[in-house]
Amino acid sequence: MAIEAEEITREDEAPITLRRLGLGDLPLIEGVEQRSYPTPWSRTMFSGEISRPGSRCYGAFARKALAGYLIVARYTDAWHVMNVAVDEPFRRRGVARLMLETMLRETDVDGSRGHTLEVRVSNAGAIRLYESLGFRPAGMRRGYYTDNREDALIMWRGDGPDDLPLTR
Ligand SMILES: CC(C)(COP(=O)(O)OP(=O)(O)OC[C@H]1O[C@@H](n2cnc3c(N)ncnc32)[C@H](O)[C@@H]1OP(=O)(O)O)[C@@H](O)C(=O)NCCC(=O)NCCS
Repeated sequence: MAIEAEEITREDEAPITLRRLGLGDLPLIEGVEQRSYPTPWSRTMFSGEISRPGSRCYGAFARKALAGYLIVARYTDAWHVMNVAVDEPFRRRGVARLMLETMLRETDVDGSRGHTLEVRVSNAGAIRLYESLGFRPAGMRRGYYTDNREDALIMWRGDGPDDLPLTR
C-alpha cells in the first residue's frame, strides 16, 4: 500500500517513494540489513514485525531498489523504533528523515503513546537525526550491544520514560 508522504525528487536520480513493507520484500531487506549492521537482524525478526498487526513497517524505494526501511513496534505505552537503515548509496538524501517524519505524523494522532529508541553512543549521525526530530536523551543501557559491549543511548520523544518496562 502506498503511503501519503512527500517524495524526494532530484533531477538526476530516481524519485524515492514510501510504501508499507510486505513479506515479499524480505530478500531486499536482508541485503540492506547485512550491509548496514555488524549484528544484522535475521529474516525471522523482520517477518515477525511485518506480520504483527500493531507494527508500522515502511520501505523507501527508488524504482525497484530498496533504499531503506523503518520498523516501528507498538507497545502499550510507546511506539518503539526497532530498526532503521538506509543503503549506503542512498544516504544523506533525507531518506531516513522522510520515513521517520512520515511515521511520526501517522502515529502522533494516537496521543497516548510517546516514541522511544536505542542508539549506539558512537552513532553521532543517527543521534543528530533523532534530535532534529524531537527525540531527547533519557538514559543509558550499559554494554547493550553484543558485538563490542557498546552502551546504548535511550532516547524519548513525548511522554516517557516513567512507564518502563514496555509491554505489548
Ligand atoms: C543512520 C542512517 C539511517 C541515516 O540515514 P540517511 O537517510 O542517510 O539520513 P538522512 O539523509 O535522512 O539524514 C538526516 C540528517 O541526519 C544527520 N545525519 C545522518 N547521517 C549522518 C552522518 N553519517 N553524519 C552526520 N550527520 C548525519 C544529518 O543532520 C542529516 O541532515 P543533513 O544531511 O542535511 O546534514 C544511515 O546512515 C544508516 O542506515 N546507518 C547504518 C544503520 C544505522 O546506524 N541505523 C541507526 C541505528 S539506531
